[in-house]
Amino acid sequence: MKVLVIGAGNMGLTYAQAMSKSKLLKKRNLMILDSSHEKTLSLKKISHFDVYENLEDCLPLADLIFIAVKPYHSDELFKKINDLGKPGQIIISIMAGVTIKTMQEATGISKVVRAMPNLPAQIGKGVTSYTAADEVSRIELLTIENLLDTTGKSLLVSNENFIDASTGISGSGPAYVFYFMQSMMEAALKMGFSPNDSKVLVSHTFEGAVELFNQSDLSPNSWMEKVASKGGTTRAALDSMEDNNVKELIKEAAYSAFNRAVELGKDK
Ligand SMILES: NC(=O)c1ccc[n+]([C@@H]2O[C@H](COP(=O)([O-])OP(=O)(O)OC[C@H]3O[C@@H](n4cnc5c(N)ncnc54)[C@H](OP(=O)(O)O)[C@@H]3O)[C@@H](O)[C@H]2O)c1
Repeated sequence: MKVLVIGAGNMGLTYAQAMSKSKLLKKRNLMILDSSHEKTLSLKKISHFDVYENLEDCLPLADLIFIAVKPYHSDELFKKINDLGKPGQIIISIMAGVTIKTMQEATGISKVVRAMPNLPAQIGKGVTSYTAADEVSRIELLTIENLLDTTGKSLLVSNENFIDASTGISGSGPAYVFYFMQSMMEAALKMGFSPNDSKVLVSHTFEGAVELFNQSDLSPNSWMEKVASKGGTTRAALDSMEDNNVKELIKEAAYSAFNRAVELGKDK
């Protein structure tokens, strides 16, 4: 299988590098295309894949077309794919809000997979939800899952509503974690810790708690029960959060991202 990644930005490059390191694809079977001449020049010097600047030189060679450009560049790109595409090609798109139907109609390609990765994909710790048009076979889906797994974990969802929903949980989620970290670091600074010590305390607290959670079968609620004894310090903090409705506010925030993803899809 020959893969073409379109868009050598943050995400496109992340996937291209992860796929090339994974040994799923031989070097000559991985191509990357970007419209910026400077970017392709620098990529040619370092890259482990074939680098292209013109779609006509690489699209006809591809079995799988991985689209990683911003949604506002998609219309122009779809027109070109429509002109150059060949039967049997598969599209995987990670563009936020661009629906499978839109891509099928605009490109003339019926085998379309829509995926939503997140930022930790850059270090192989991402989570990507994905769903596919009926025209994509089970065997093709298995190959696609292997490719998506090169950046972390993938999750097949039954329809596109869950892609928008996962935007509100895992897609935008890293920013919620950073928000929580920032708040705790600001509290640490206020208590008199240096910026560096605040960072050490907070980052290791997150890392340790997540690791503990991952290594057990306990729910977050059960862990909270375990650490928060009546009249103790942790209970005081959790009570303060409950009194201030923090959990409801976080749920509301996740729904805001979900709703925005739906809105962006309608704009397309
Ligand atoms: N970043 C994330 O965490 C994240 C998470 C989930 C989904 N996504 C989705 O991933 C997609 C890519 O995001 P990104 O952050 O990687 O964007 P990015 O850094 O802007 O990368 C996109 C690249 O594609 C190039 N490009 C634009 N039109 C092109 C065309 N027709 N042919 C070839 N190359 C073209 C751009 O060149 P120019 O700079 O010259 O325009 C740029 O180098 C977006 O649709 C976004 O919704 C991103």
